[in-house]
Amino acid sequence: MPSPITSLDGLFGPQQQVRVMAKLDLLQVSGSTKERTAASLLAGLMERGELQPGGTVVESTSGNLGSALARQCALLGVRMIAVVDEFANVAALQAMKAYGARVVRVPTPEDGNRLRARVLKVAELLEEIPGAVTTNQYGNPDNARAHDLTTMPEFVSALGAPPDRMYVAVSTTGTLLGCQNAIERAGWPTVLVAVDAAGSVLFDGERGERRLPGLGAGFVTELSRHTRPGAVRRITEADMVRGCRMLARREGILSGASTGAIVAAIGQDLDAMEAGTTVGMLVHDGGLPYLPTVYDDDWVSANIGDVDALDTSLDLANPFTAR
Ligand SMILES: Cc1ncc(COP(=O)(O)O)c(C=O)c1O
Repeated sequence: MPSPITSLDGLFGPQQQVRVMAKLDLLQVSGSTKERTAASLLAGLMERGELQPGGTVVESTSGNLGSALARQCALLGVRMIAVVDEFANVAALQAMKAYGARVVRVPTPEDGNRLRARVLKVAELLEEIPGAVTTNQYGNPDNARAHDLTTMPEFVSALGAPPDRMYVAVSTTGTLLGCQNAIERAGWPTVLVAVDAAGSVLFDGERGERRLPGLGAGFVTELSRHTRPGAVRRITEADMVRGCRMLARREGILSGASTGAIVAAIGQDLDAMEAGTTVGMLVHDGGLPYLPTVYDDDWVSANIGDVDALDTSLDLANPFTAR
C-alpha cells in the first residue's frame, strides 16, 4: 500500500538548508516497510506454484517481517512459522501470534551469530515439515522487487522528481537493492546511501555486539552482494537513540532504531550537502515496540551510556557533527 511522504523542515533546526522528505512506512498495516517485502515474497511463491492455501511458510525474522508475513499468511489461508532470536521485539512476537503464526525462539549461540542460528533452524524445519517453503528474505530477488516496483517509484512520483540523496537502512539489503534497481534502470541521479549498524558485517563491517533490532546483519546476505551504494554510513547505537529521540521531539514521529540511524547518517552528511539538496528517507517502522529500550532512560543508561549527556546533545541543531 502506498504510504504518505512528509517534509521534515525543522529536523536540524530553523537554519536547515536541505529538504528532508520522509516516507512514513510506519503507517503500513503491520507497521513497517516489511509489509511491502512480505507481499512480494508471498506473491512470488504463489506465482511460481510453490505455495498454495493450506501450505506452510517458514522464515527467520527479527520481528517486522514476521508480523507482516503472519498477517498476510492469515489472509491467504497459509500457515506461518516465525523463527526468532532472543532480541526480537516482544510486541512483534505477540502480533505474529495474534495473526495465528507459530513462533520458534532460537537461543543465542556461543559465537553470538544469532542470524546464522536462525537460518540453520529454518533449514531444520523445512526438512521436518512436508511441503513447507521459505520466503528466504536474505537471498530472494522478490524482496528487492517490492522496493523496485513500489518504494522508489512512489517516492519519485510524490516528489515530482528523484531525490538528490536517498537514505535507506539495511539488514537483508532488500530495500536498498530494490531502490538501487529502480534508480539505475531509470537513470536517476540519486545518490543512494546505505545506513548500517556498527557491529554489522555488511559492507566489510567488523562484527560487534548489536542490541537494537531492525538494521545490520551478522552475515553477508546474498542480496547484499548485488548492492552498489554511493556511500555507507555505519551508526553507533548511541547515535541511533539520539536520532530517534530527536525525530520524536522535533517532528513528532516516534520511530524505530533504524530510522534513528538514518537521521544520524543525514546529520553526519549535512555539512557536505549543498543548500537546496533534496534528501529522501524511510521511516521504516514506528517506535512503540522500542519504548522499553530506545526511549527508556534506565535502559539507555544501562546499555548505551550517559543518558543526560545524550539528551543534552539534542539541544544542538545538529548533534551529529558537533562532537
Ligand atoms: C525497521 C526496519 N529497518 C530497516 C529495514 C530495511 O531492511 P532490509 O535491508 O531487510 O530491507 C526494514 C525493512 O523493512 C525495517 O522494517
